[in-house]
Amino acid sequence: MTETHTHHHTDEPTGDFSRAAWEERYQSRPAVWSGQPNQPLVDEVEHLSEPGTALEVGCGEGADAVWLAGQGWLVTAVDLSPTALERARIRAEEAAVAHHITFTDEPLEPLIATAGPWNLVTSLYTHPERGGRWLVETLAPAVAPGGMLLVIGHHPTDPHAAEHPQLRDAAFDAAAVADALDRTAWEVSATVRERTTRTADGHERLWRDSVLAARRHG
Ligand SMILES: C[S@@+](CC[C@H](N)C(=O)[O-])C[C@H]1O[C@@H](n2cnc3c(N)ncnc32)[C@H](O)[C@@H]1O
Repeated sequence: MTETHTHHHTDEPTGDFSRAAWEERYQSRPAVWSGQPNQPLVDEVEHLSEPGTALEVGCGEGADAVWLAGQGWLVTAVDLSPTALERARIRAEEAAVAHHITFTDEPLEPLIATAGPWNLVTSLYTHPERGGRWLVETLAPAVAPGGMLLVIGHHPTDPHAAEHPQLRDAAFDAAAVADALDRTAWEVSATVRERTTRTADGHERLWRDSVLAARRHG
């Protein structure tokens, strides 16, 4: 994800990934993220043939949800933090796509049981308290036949994660969590991808992401 000022996050939360901790973090600053969509999301989704319905999990201040809506997706965007969701709503209105996004802080399991499935299910750098495998297991039933699941987070060898033990805890290996998907029902791609960003003071920073992209057979 991209962070205000640095083009990427520099002050990750301190290992507490609870709703209260996220809410406190958002309340402590007028904006946490840059407002730009995550490039790995753009790279994966841009080439999909037709937009449909999308579930965006851990939407934060809404940059990815707004980008998806701008591409024609009808988006359900979920986050734990009411403050983040309020900012995301404002961003969507400013971008004139609010009518294409439903924002909610409903817990994932009941939401997915009642509102799904979606053609595209994405979750980028969500750092769920219960880990990457739980996230994949929870989101898999939300994907419609022929649909796509995209889960991206920090890889355990990400240099930034290595500096911050709490982020290392949130990191996951895409290939390992992909085991949660039944290969007779899914075509799975699990990769490690490197990208660089530039900090406000001009330094280049290397990131190593886990990218799980899986298509459910139609
Ligand atoms: C590091 S931020 C990433 C925000 C955004 N995806 C981005 O890349 O800029 C993680 C977000 O996930 C949300 N989150 C964490 N666990 C969640 C869960 N179980 N359900 C919904 N949102 C969650 C947090 O509130 C936070 O806004």
